[in-house]
Amino acid sequence: MTDVHVSPPPALRRALDLLADPPADPDVSRGYLDLLGRDSGKSDVAKNTGPIQAAWASPIGSMLYDNAQALSRRLIGAWQTPLEWLNIPPGGVALDVGSGPGNVTASLARAAGPEGLALGIDISEPMLERAVRNEAGPQVGFIKADAQRLPLRDDTVDAVVSTAVLQLVPSPAAALGEMARVLRPGGRLAVMVPTVGPAARLFQRLPNVGAHVFDDDEIGDILEDHGFVSVRVKNYGTVQWVRAKNG
Ligand SMILES: C[S@@+](CC[C@H](N)C(=O)[O-])C[C@H]1O[C@@H](n2cnc3c(N)ncnc32)[C@H](O)[C@@H]1O
Repeated sequence: MTDVHVSPPPALRRALDLLADPPADPDVSRGYLDLLGRDSGKSDVAKNTGPIQAAWASPIGSMLYDNAQALSRRLIGAWQTPLEWLNIPPGGVALDVGSGPGNVTASLARAAGPEGLALGIDISEPMLERAVRNEAGPQVGFIKADAQRLPLRDDTVDAVVSTAVLQLVPSPAAALGEMARVLRPGGRLAVMVPTVGPAARLFQRLPNVGAHVFDDDEIGDILEDHGFVSVRVKNYGTVQWVRAKNG
């Protein structure tokens, strides 16, 4: 049986202060703060049961993804997080939604300076375990939670990033709405998704294999509906970046 009575490391202690509904007895026994429990299927938010998310939720798939993303980020400029543009204030709080192996989360913490905090949120235990092993530290913490129901209070973070995640989330609009809710007014958001450009409409007519194909304006339109301003959409080959400021 897992001992859930482990005291939270510093980054998770700070995270607990930001939660809307902090647990009385937080489970940090696996190095991340588990807000879903072992049986995530009990939660009432929609689940992606497709093969791609199943791969990212497996130990082998998460290991393969980790190696592939490290190479892609080294070789392909379009994979790199726009850290400077995010303008995280010194000592600020940054959130990485669907943090996977956690290296982007750690880069957000470095951008926030020595007093900053970066939190990564994911639903895959193997991904969270890799992230804890390789990236957790005094300023970097990981939480098991769903992007469609972020556990943070309103207006608690200075910047939000979500890369290669929204295509896997059953309701991208719900996830973007949550990002808007937790982001302070004026805070910046950068989202990256895979794209097939103008062919998206065609792909949307094919059977869904568990990854949504966004058309060029879809994410930008949702962000404007949530009150974001200065929405900028750019396609770089097979990826789309959307940047916006919380109005
Ligand atoms: C392709 S990986 C991207 C990881 C990381 N953002 C990166 O850029 O390297 C997608 C990640 O999103 C996570 N994910 C998928 N659906 C999610 C959801 N509803 N809530 C939180 N994380 C989710 C997966 O578990 C996986 O770790």
